Amino acid sequence: DGFPASRLFRKGFSYTYDDVIFHPGFIDFPADAVDLTTRLSRRIHLSTPCVASPMDTVSEAAMAAAMASLGAAAVVHCNTEPHIQASIVRAAKSRRLPFVSSVPIFSLASAPSLNDFAGHDYALVTEAGDALSKLVGVAVAADAVANPPVPVSEYMRPAPRSASATFDFEQAAAFLADEGLDYAPLVSEEGEVIDLITAKDIERIRSYPKLGKPSLGADGKFVVAASIGTREDDKRRLEQLVQAGANAIVIDSSQGNSTYQLDMIKYAKNMYPEVDLIGGNVVTIAQAQNLIAAGVDGLRVGMGSGSICTTQEVCAVGRGQATAVYKVASYANDQNVPVIADGGISYSGHIVKALTLGASTVMMGSFLAGSHEAPGAYEYKDGHRVKKYRGMGSLEAMTKGSDARYLGDTLKLKVAQGVVGAVADKGSVLRFIPYTMQAVKQGFQDLGASSLQSAHDLLRAETLRLEVRTGAAQVEGGIHGLVSYEKKPF
Ligand code: XMP
Repeated sequence: DGFPASRLFRKGFSYTYDDVIFHPGFIDFPADAVDLTTRLSRRIHLSTPCVASPMDTVSEAAMAAAMASLGAAAVVHCNTEPHIQASIVRAAKSRRLPFVSSVPIFSLASAPSLNDFAGHDYALVTEAGDALSKLVGVAVAADAVANPPVPVSEYMRPAPRSASATFDFEQAAAFLADEGLDYAPLVSEEGEVIDLITAKDIERIRSYPKLGKPSLGADGKFVVAASIGTREDDKRRLEQLVQAGANAIVIDSSQGNSTYQLDMIKYAKNMYPEVDLIGGNVVTIAQAQNLIAAGVDGLRVGMGSGSICTTQEVCAVGRGQATAVYKVASYANDQNVPVIADGGISYSGHIVKALTLGASTVMMGSFLAGSHEAPGAYEYKDGHRVKKYRGMGSLEAMTKGSDARYLGDTLKLKVAQGVVGAVADKGSVLRFIPYTMQAVKQGFQDLGASSLQSAHDLLRAETLRLEVRTGAAQVEGGIHGLVSYEKKPF
């Protein structure tokens, strides 16, 4: 009954996640017993199999800290100056808290306007206006209503006792409660002013479900990955990212099987053997063989499957994501190289499919871009609260430098391989990722797989069967026949 994956994916078709459906297995364990622990790359272990995409509308410090605190990870994008990317990595790794407020820092001599608070309720005041000079006070936006602006020194409040950057969530909560504070500066052991924490953030996050062990590296800090390109000057970027403590480096390319990437892999493995190197993107076994032979510790799989991608339409290359993940993972897993299924995730069911077909993690852009932790401010569009989400191959993003991902660096004419759009407000990843993972556990339970390894074993042993869904079966499998319904929350 049904097909083993090895037969189904040999038929000459390119299948997406929606094209295929698994047969249920036998349940002899509760959903809560499902173990989703996994690896991002050869040496990096995660308790939650999710990765935030290296995109400038997805992964900066707030996303990286939140994802690491959930046991997942984010890849900080490289569509910015190397020193700024390195400072984003440092900001996420400088704390053990799941949130980053990034309040402004003013100098004692400044006279900030309300606009300078950039929507924050508070700002920190240091002597020279940088994180390393002496902390002298806290400016409250509500006090800054004077117009024309007056020097901040005239109305700032004395800085309360500082919380240590080594505090985890419970320690920070206890500190604010014991000291009776609404807010406190977060300061590193070296005296660097990191951020401002508030009782409001603590209260908000306390109401979210708890999930897994945080992702910590050998340095005892949050695991944070970062992306680079394959140009000569990316070697300097790589150096700065390694110095900032990046635990893994992702070589960001839409077609990773190139002489540029092979050269960069050899260079990076030789210079920084201690850092896990993730190559890609690939969709075929032949591509994977080349990158694995060159020494990558992880592979990113997907070409044209992303929600904002037009690569398949523009360049006529790519592969249906279910086929790509199955094929590449069937080879890479034998070589002990974990696979990241990148793009095309809209629902928890897609995550179950990706992980069962052999991936160790899923990488998501649109799924995370509407979150509180994604960069950018919410806007209103047709009555909906949305955040901007754009492809790194969109013309808009490429003007900032991401064209290297599409190897367009020497070309005068830039051809877009992605679009600019917007996604709905989804609230905090700290809330919706735990819910999504609970749904993934229920999917694994239905399959009779109590862990990722057991799902991979069932697939390989051909115990797990699947089929292709016809167009009508896909319609039947979705919500249909209703006049109206409550929109799915995630
Ligand atoms: P989702 O579906 O999660 O996909 O939004 C995110 C992934 O899409 C890739 N990406 C692009 N692909 N043109 C493309 O063809 C683009 O402009 C583009 N931007 C991102 C990338 O792999 C990301 O992780």
